[in-house]
Amino acid sequence: MNQDQLKQMVGEAARDEVLKLPSGQVLGVGTGSTANCFIDALAPHKEHFSGTVSSSNATTECLLKHGFKVLDPNDVQVLPAYVDGADEIDLAGYMIKGGGGALTREKIIAAMAQQFICICDSSKQVPVLGNFALPVEIIPLARGVVSRELEKFGGKVGLRLAKNIRTDLNQTPSEPFVTDNGGWILDVAGLQISDPLTMEAQINQIAGVITVGLFAKEKANILLVSNVSDVERIAL
Ligand code: 5RP
Repeated sequence: MNQDQLKQMVGEAARDEVLKLPSGQVLGVGTGSTANCFIDALAPHKEHFSGTVSSSNATTECLLKHGFKVLDPNDVQVLPAYVDGADEIDLAGYMIKGGGGALTREKIIAAMAQQFICICDSSKQVPVLGNFALPVEIIPLARGVVSRELEKFGGKVGLRLAKNIRTDLNQTPSEPFVTDNGGWILDVAGLQISDPLTMEAQINQIAGVITVGLFAKEKANILLVSNVSDVERIAL
């Protein structure tokens, strides 16, 4: 079984999970290839939800293509669930996210939601976060000062370039990758994140940081994780 099939399996499991929610509510939808599998699986059941809130321009495009209603988050008061992938998830449900560059809107929608349903394959499960470089979205003019502050955590800081990412946006490969919010992303490699809640709070305090892709306060509540034999459901 290849990784695409594992993503498809977990996308279908997430569809079954959210269809247990009472109908007529709004659903939060994440960003990335696993979230896209979830959208594909849910599309035939879209009438179950009164609408969706989207975590990125790419997801909005995908939802609209499938005929989902996409709402302005400002018009939504109650969001029972948010479904999204992760780049890494630990045993407590703390995550690194933002490999696709959508971390800020993902965190906003996660903060609105009553439960975060994380969907991934078992390659994303780790004992300690940090093998995947931690994305930090920043205000571009703060690149220098934020980089120096992030280096104090012991990792190697690199500016994310448009190369290989979101080619649909026609960004020049050697230029900085620009997020949906006009921010840049610093990726911090080589961290061992033993206390995600503290590190998230500390990085959030740095002037010029928009969002850190450490989801500790907004951790996963339910993990659906696919492996070669099945999809496991873990309440966190
Ligand atoms: C995007 C994200 C994604 O959820 C994360 O990168 C996982 O993506 P994929 O499902 O394609 O592996 O945080 O900003």
